[in-house]
Amino acid sequence: MGSKRSMLTNGLGDALSQSIAECNRVFDLFTGSGAVAWHVAQKYDREVIASDLQSYAVALAAGVIERTEPLADHRWLDSWFDCAREMQPSRFFQKATNLQEKLEVEQIAGAAIEARELCADFNLPVCFAYGGYYYSPLQSLWLDTLRIALPKNANQRRIGLAALIIAASQSAAAPGHTAQPFKPNETAGRFLKEAWMRDIQFLVKRAAVSVSEKHALKAGRAIVGDANELANQVIEGDLVFLDPPYSGVHYSRFYHVLETVALGEVGEISGNGRYPPSEERPRSQYSLRTRSKPVLDGLLKVISQKGASAIVTFPAGAASNGLSGEDVADLSERYFAIEEVKVSSRFSTLGGDKKHREARQNTTELILRLSPK
Ligand SMILES: C[S@@+](CC[C@H](N)C(=O)[O-])C[C@H]1O[C@@H](n2cnc3c(N)ncnc32)[C@H](O)[C@@H]1O
Repeated sequence: MGSKRSMLTNGLGDALSQSIAECNRVFDLFTGSGAVAWHVAQKYDREVIASDLQSYAVALAAGVIERTEPLADHRWLDSWFDCAREMQPSRFFQKATNLQEKLEVEQIAGAAIEARELCADFNLPVCFAYGGYYYSPLQSLWLDTLRIALPKNANQRRIGLAALIIAASQSAAAPGHTAQPFKPNETAGRFLKEAWMRDIQFLVKRAAVSVSEKHALKAGRAIVGDANELANQVIEGDLVFLDPPYSGVHYSRFYHVLETVALGEVGEISGNGRYPPSEERPRSQYSLRTRSKPVLDGLLKVISQKGASAIVTFPAGAASNGLSGEDVADLSERYFAIEEVKVSSRFSTLGGDKKHREARQNTTELILRLSPK
């Protein structure tokens, strides 16, 4: 994910700490992986309000920021898994298990054909849309049934859904994001096999235990919504963290698989990436070259009119959505006093496809600390 996690120990954490000292609530309006929302909620006694256009991002943030206690007793995990197991049709489960066991010895091309045939008529979203592509049939079956069997208890449900999204992200057979699955061919076949062999039950449990241990110091909220609309809820004394899109391709193209897991449903799918149609995916004006500047201008203007402070991060150079670090600094200066400019670096996987993991790139990012004029 294009997460800010690494930057938290590399300049961003310090910038947040300085600005938070003087603020009441903290907004993270483009929360993505939720890394910044989690960090602030765990470390500071402030209400955190995290939002994003994508539901998977909001579910990740909610897993921590909406809970104020650790969940030390993990027995609910066994009941959750038992409940999911009971839903799994025995014929499909048996065939999917046989295929999983053969993966180590069988050629991936043959296994992929068998996996796709098995999943094609199966009426659960992950199996149907991604089984035999991003996931093995058995992985898909667990993701679908665990999604349906999520506990009713609100905190267990939050943790469970966040854990499913984390495990789905860690096991997807794709290079860093889900724009396209690895193909079962000579070059990418070994990556596909390696991903399909990941133990999805272990990954979900590990993520659930890790999320359970984390919690906010003060209860926050995670909301699906447009940053420019949510900015109207900001008031004087709030701090708004802004990490707007820098890609000229809608983020939903990279994260549609996680969105399906978060929503528990999928519509029509097509193409090599097995995407839902673009009109069913969240679209962002920030990813349109003609709109990115005015829409960021509008956002900064509203936040400044409310009398709030802000921290903005953006790649230092030119980004593919038509904005550059310089544009972002110029726009910020129209409405705010720039307290501090920091430069940080982080790894990004967005845009990498052909070279798989090697496609991770080191980017230099600006961190602007803004206060009301
Ligand atoms: C650069 S990423 C944020 C990464 C995040 N800070 C992290 O640490 O993972 C930008 C995010 O903005 C979201 N987004 C795009 N347009 C948006 C909008 N108009 N309102 C809210 N969120 C939006 C995308 O879905 C994506 O998750």
